[in-house]
Amino acid sequence: MASSPGQIFLFGEHAVVYGFPALATAINMRTEVQAELGSNNKIEIHSQGVGKLEGEVKEVNGKWSIKKKSGDSEKLRFVTEVIQLTLNHIDRGDGFRIYIKSDLPPGSGLGSSSAVTTATAAAVSSALGKNLTREEISDLAYNSELEVQGAASRTGVNVATYGGFLKIQESEKKSLERLPKLKILIGYTGNYSNTGKLVGNVRGLKESRPTIVNPILKAIGKATESGIESLEEGNLERVGVLMNANQSLLRGLNVSSPHLNDLIQAARSSGALGAKLTGAGGGGCMIALSQEDIDRISKSISEAGGESMEAKIGAEGLKNDQ
Ligand code: MEV
Repeated sequence: MASSPGQIFLFGEHAVVYGFPALATAINMRTEVQAELGSNNKIEIHSQGVGKLEGEVKEVNGKWSIKKKSGDSEKLRFVTEVIQLTLNHIDRGDGFRIYIKSDLPPGSGLGSSSAVTTATAAAVSSALGKNLTREEISDLAYNSELEVQGAASRTGVNVATYGGFLKIQESEKKSLERLPKLKILIGYTGNYSNTGKLVGNVRGLKESRPTIVNPILKAIGKATESGIESLEEGNLERVGVLMNANQSLLRGLNVSSPHLNDLIQAARSSGALGAKLTGAGGGGCMIALSQEDIDRISKSISEAGGESMEAKIGAEGLKNDQ
C-alpha cells in the first residue's frame, strides 16, 4: 500500500516549464494504491470512480508490457504506463491486482496523475519485494507522465514524492521548511484540465509573440520569489496581492477560462486575500487564500457554480506502508 498527496501551485505554473521558479505544495488530499501479486501474469486494475482494466503482463521484444483484454485503457494510461516502466526497471514481470482510490478528481489540476504514478510505482515495487528510492520512484513517475502527456516539468512528481513546500527551478528542487501550513480553499470547475494541450498552447504563443510572452513568464518568476518572501514573513495580505498578480499574468498567457475567472472573482469579492487558478488551467481548479472568511468564500464559490473544498498545505509526501 502506498499513498501520495495532490498538489497546488501557490505561484509559478507554466513559467516553471521555461526555467523560472515556481512554488508548489502538497495538500492533505491523497491517492492510495494497493498492489497485490496475482497469478499467471494476470493484471487487474480497479480505480474507484475512474474505471477498470483486465489484461496480461507479457514480455514483448525483451520488455514487459501490459496487453489489455477488457476495460478502459485510455483513462488508466498513467497507471499502465508506470507499471510497465516499474517492471522494466526492476526487470521482473508478474501479475497484479491493483486497487486505487483518490480524493483528487482526475484532470482537476490538483496533480492527480503525479499522485497516482508515484504511489503506483511504490506499491508495485514493494509488492515485488523491492524498495526503490524516492529518486527512482519520482523518475519512473516522471517518465510515465512524459510518455502519456508529453512535455512537463518535474514539479508534480517532486511534490507527490517529497511533499511539503517545494521551490522548483530547472532541475533544482528546494524544500522550504519554514513556510506556514495554512488552510486553502479550492474551487473545482468540474471541467477537465488538459496539461499537455495547455502547455502546447503557451509554447505556441511564446513562439509567435515572444516579445509579449517572455516578459510575462519572467514576471511570473518574480511573483514566485516575492511570494516566497512574503510567506516566510507571514505577510498573507501581500501573498494575496501577489496571487492576484500571478492570475493576471496567467490570463495574459490565455490559460484561464470564464468559469475559473467567475470562481476567482466570487472568492475575491467575498473576502479572499488573493485567488488564482492552480495547475495548467483551462478548467480544473482555482485556489483562494483566507484564514478567516473560509465559510463565506466557500459559499460564494458554490454559488458561482464551483465545487468548493478546504485543504491544508505543506502536507506529507509519498508514504509507503509494507
Ligand atoms: C501543470 O500542473 C503545471 C504546468 O506548469 C506544467 C508543468 O509544470 O509540468 C502548467
